Amino acid sequence: MPELQRLRADHAPAVLAFESANRAYFAASIPDRGDAYFDQFTDRYHALLAEQEAGICAFHVLVAEDGSVLGRFNLVDIEHGTAELGYRVAQHVAGRGVATATVRKLCRLAAARHELHTIRAATARENAASQRVLTKAGFVPVGPADPADLGGKPGTWYQRDI
Ligand SMILES: CC(C)(COP(=O)(O)OP(=O)(O)OC[C@H]1O[C@@H](n2cnc3c(N)ncnc32)[C@H](O)[C@@H]1OP(=O)(O)O)[C@@H](O)C(=O)NCCC(=O)NCCS
Repeated sequence: MPELQRLRADHAPAVLAFESANRAYFAASIPDRGDAYFDQFTDRYHALLAEQEAGICAFHVLVAEDGSVLGRFNLVDIEHGTAELGYRVAQHVAGRGVATATVRKLCRLAAARHELHTIRAATARENAASQRVLTKAGFVPVGPADPADLGGKPGTWYQRDI
């Protein structure tokens, strides 16, 4: 049974394998991370762990029984009971409800562990799968998102009060 785990230093090789294997798949719907992300992976990974340690972000990985990463689910900019949600799921498990179930679970965790009352997520209008995930997980559209935050694409902010 896959397990949602808080990001740790020892997840690094599996996270890199996940990002590398799914790079082209993700880039079809969201901005590519760029070569620098992969070249400087270790430094950037440690910077993420430092942000998490400071309480600004809470990063999670969905880990399969064999230790591989099936998805990443992140709460960033945690402040005054609100946070922004981001997620990505491996292509080989797409369309099986993994993102929906895990976003729902993360919302419950966010209330219990981080005392969040509102979670927001921005998605491009053309990213139908992501909009579907948010809707199924109880989010509602609340207004337009800045295209600059979505690789130049028009989009929508979704919100869920928890
Ligand atoms: C978006 C993403 C997380 C979805 O993960 P997933 O585990 O496949 O999602 P789920 O299986 O829980 O739900 C996907 C839903 O989208 C629907 N969907 C998928 N592609 C679709 C499309 N092109 N048009 C319309 N609906 C689509 C599926 O049918 C499903 O809805 P249903 O349960 O009503 O049938 C995954 O595709 C991904 O990582 N994409 C790249 C990164 C990304 O876009 N992240 C979100 C940024 S805001």
